[in-house]
Amino acid sequence: MTLTRRMLMATSAAAFALTAMPLRAQEPIVIKFSHVVAPETPKGKGAEKFKQLAEEYTDGRVTVDVYPNSQLYKDKEELEALQMGAVQMLAPSLAKFGPLGVGDFEVFDLPYIFPDRTALQKVTSGEVGDALLAKLEPKGITGLAYWDNGFKIMTANSPLRMPEDFLGQKMRIQSSKVLEAQFQALGAVPQVMAFSEVYQAMQTGVVDGSENTPSNVYTQKMHEVQKHATVSNHGYIGYAVIVNKAFWDGLPDDVREQLDRAMVDASEYANSIAQDENAAALQAIRDAGTTEVHEQTPEEREAWMAELESVYAEMESRIGKETIEMVRSATR
Ligand code: LMR
Repeated sequence: MTLTRRMLMATSAAAFALTAMPLRAQEPIVIKFSHVVAPETPKGKGAEKFKQLAEEYTDGRVTVDVYPNSQLYKDKEELEALQMGAVQMLAPSLAKFGPLGVGDFEVFDLPYIFPDRTALQKVTSGEVGDALLAKLEPKGITGLAYWDNGFKIMTANSPLRMPEDFLGQKMRIQSSKVLEAQFQALGAVPQVMAFSEVYQAMQTGVVDGSENTPSNVYTQKMHEVQKHATVSNHGYIGYAVIVNKAFWDGLPDDVREQLDRAMVDASEYANSIAQDENAAALQAIRDAGTTEVHEQTPEEREAWMAELESVYAEMESRIGKETIEMVRSATR
């Protein structure tokens, strides 16, 4: 037998094996779920819950590999990786969709737009939330769910009580134009920076401060390099759990159904723990004793609100008057 003939036979045998192979032989289907926060945060725990349920509900046909703490990608890179199919699932903060060309999500960053969690959940679980997720489809992304984190505190090395305390402070922000406008309105100097770089930037004085949820502050040890925190609840951090659309659409229907079910249950879990996780983290920050924690007074809140009112008009053309109105009427 000539080498060529042997090779031909081997090739056709392999081709036969491939066509004869039942779909199950190509499994497990692997979902790489990349995120930037610590495993012991609401998002980190939600991702682990999704992994557990997805693997259980699909009887092991799907494996979910969770990569926390920017292990695979930083903020901006992870969205690019999702679009290219290098990872299949992410849960970026709603403040990070601007660079993708979907600035509408920045409505969630408007200062004081949500009076409380109930108002927020009305938006994410209703038509407005669905309409916003639909805007991701043309980008090759399917939005599956909203996951809660919580309301933000402000941190710095000097007290941040009244608007004038922000003057000249270099504040790290997520890549949101609304957050940029917010800090500019307060006279601060906003600086976009990936989440994984914040601790070191604080430690070395590249930035003076930032805003984040207690859970993110505590799990990244930011409280060790920030002398002051103000519990202002002026803004919100939440997530859109998203997948690569081509990957999702290409899944066998029965697998996708079970993954949808796992996502519904994991979302319920993530959203049910967020508030307590943040309360516990705030307490842990207080207990650590490295940061002086100040509860914003009603007078201070009034003063911040007055200073920040201009952000709405300024950002109207970016987010869309209609989106702002829809959110406002859903929260009334
Ligand atoms: C941040 O970058 O500050 C946060 O959005 C990180 C996160 O995913 O919670």
